[in-house]
Amino acid sequence: MGLEEARSRLKEARRVAVLTGAGISKPSGIPTFRDAEGLWKEFNPLDYATPEAYARNPERVWEWYAWRIARVREAKPNPAHLALVRLEEEVLGRGAAFLLVTQNVDGLHALAGSRNLVELHGNILRARCEACGHRFLLPDPFTPPPFCPLCGHRARPDVVWFGELLPEGAWEKAEKAFAEADVALVVGTSAEVEPAASLGRIAFTGGAYLIEVNPEPTPLTPLAHLSLRMGAVEGLQALGYGESGALPSASG
Ligand code: APR
Repeated sequence: MGLEEARSRLKEARRVAVLTGAGISKPSGIPTFRDAEGLWKEFNPLDYATPEAYARNPERVWEWYAWRIARVREAKPNPAHLALVRLEEEVLGRGAAFLLVTQNVDGLHALAGSRNLVELHGNILRARCEACGHRFLLPDPFTPPPFCPLCGHRARPDVVWFGELLPEGAWEKAEKAFAEADVALVVGTSAEVEPAASLGRIAFTGGAYLIEVNPEPTPLTPLAHLSLRMGAVEGLQALGYGESGALPSASG
C-alpha cells in the first residue's frame, strides 16, 4: 500500500493542499533554519528575525538580509519545485482545486511556475515601507537600507518576523485549503513554527490523506498516512512527479 495508495489518491483528489518549508529549497543551495547546518545554528533569530531586533539595530538586520538575498538571487528552482508545478497543472487540469502554501521567502516556487501560491511568511526579494506600507521589489543589486519609492521613508524586509502577524488573508486561505483538502502534502518543514505547523493536523482532522516528505521525522509524522523519509526531490519523484514523470519501480 503506502506509495501506491498515495499516488492514486493524488491522481483522484478533488482538493489538494501542499505545504512547503526550507527543506524543499535546500537542494537549490539555500540553507534551512533548524538543520545541523541551519541558519539558526549560526545566527540567533532574536538578533535578526524579530521586530525588536530590527528596532535595536536595523543596519545589522539589513546586512544579514542583504547577504541572504544575494544567495537567493543565485539560486534556481530545483526538481522538487518543478515537480509541484507539474502536480498543480495535473490537478487543475482535471478541474480539481490546488493550493501551495509555502513558509519559504525565497520566491523559488513562483520562479518555478507555481500559480495558486500563498507565501505565508512574505518574500525576501520585497521590501515594505515602514511609514506608508508600500511594498516594492528590491533592485538588484541594492544597498541596504532601501527607501520607499513613494514616500522616501526607510523600508524593512517584507517578511514575517517572530511575533508578527501573517499577511492579510494568507492564513485564512491556507487554513481553508487544508481543512477542505482530501489530500495534503507536507514537504521539507520541521513543523515546529505555528501557525503553519498546524496545517497538516488541520487537514488530518478534516479527513485528508496526509503525506509527509522529510529525511527526518517531525511532530507531524505520527499523523501522516505516508511519511517518506527522504529528500523533496526523491520524495516527489517517488510520488510520480519527477522530471521524467516515469514512476520508479513500486518500492511500496
Ligand atoms: N528535502 C526535504 N526536506 C529536507 C531536506 C530535503 N532535501 N533537507 C532537510 N529537510 C528538512 C529537515 O529535516 C527539516 O525538517 O527540512 C526541514 C527544515 O526545517 P526548518 O529549518 O525548521 O525550516 P522550516 O520548517 O521551513 O521553518 C519554518 O521557521 O525560522 C522560521 O520563518 C522561518 O519559515 C521558517 C519557519
